[in-house]
Amino acid sequence: CKPGLMPVASIRVIPSNCVMPREFKPYAERLMNFEVREDDVWVISYPKCGTTWTQELVWLLGNNFDYDTAKQKLQLQRFPFLEAVSIINQNDLIHENGTLFGDTISFVQEMPSPRFIKSHLPVQLLPKDIFVKKPKIIYVTREPKDAAVSYYHHHRLWNGYEGSFDDFMKAFLEDKVVYSPFWSHVNNYKKLAKTMPNVLINSYEDMQLNLPEVIKKTAKFLEKPINDKQLKKLTNHLSFDSMKNNPAINGEEFIKDVIVKYDMPRDDPELTFIRKGIMGSWKKEMSPELVKKFDEWAEINGVEDDDQENKVN
Ligand code: A3P
Repeated sequence: CKPGLMPVASIRVIPSNCVMPREFKPYAERLMNFEVREDDVWVISYPKCGTTWTQELVWLLGNNFDYDTAKQKLQLQRFPFLEAVSIINQNDLIHENGTLFGDTISFVQEMPSPRFIKSHLPVQLLPKDIFVKKPKIIYVTREPKDAAVSYYHHHRLWNGYEGSFDDFMKAFLEDKVVYSPFWSHVNNYKKLAKTMPNVLINSYEDMQLNLPEVIKKTAKFLEKPINDKQLKKLTNHLSFDSMKNNPAINGEEFIKDVIVKYDMPRDDPELTFIRKGIMGSWKKEMSPELVKKFDEWAEINGVEDDDQENKVN
């Protein structure tokens, strides 16, 4: 594998039982001791579950619907990825035009309040301070077959993954891809939300089925009032086409670089960040045998979603 977000783990961090790349090790303690602020707003997820979509929603609610800044300033600067430095090759975090940063942890540390922070860390690797300061956390989940397919294309795009689809899916099911195990990631946040009112669970599927309701639910959680006109405008801004064509979000300038770096086909429609944006994209890509394996794996490891309070409607 090429360096970066490697699909198959280099190390298992004990005792957290989460798969992280070798690059993570020197940063684990720093992240654990990262100073949290009460007025931070965090968006956390297992990768490919709708993080970017949720971040855009949350940032606009939290910044008085400032569409000008949202369109001019890259989302990764407005809403940085806290532990990026610990999982992505340092060289990839320094962009020649100065839009990226080497040490994302220091970058977040120095941001003025209120900070908007993205993370994929599982509960057990979160900064300890998060349980003391209790900032608002929005955790987003997604149907795992869709997340896995999206993650496969993500690795093809960002890390030049050249392995087979089936090998990637096998690694995913065996909890060997970075940030796995998928189910304990999701289940632990759902458990947390039951006892910590500062944690909200959203889902990619709810966003697909009824985005305005998810916006309203999130606005209520963030204590940011929203009227009908604002709701309509935000729903439009968050549509798939609008996000796919928004250079502040779609990573187009970085994609140009990685396509050259890994000598990838320039016309592959799957090699985009905002890719398909649908529920059930696995149906076209997974064999019936693989679907069966995923469903059995979910049956054993998933929990019944009995948390009706957190559901839309
Ligand atoms: P697909 O690869 O299935 O298309 P993350 O931000 O966590 O990396 O998640 C990325 C996934 O969210 C991708 O899924 C991407 O297309 C999808 N996504 C991003 N913005 C979206 C939107 N506005 N509507 C629907 N899906 C969106």
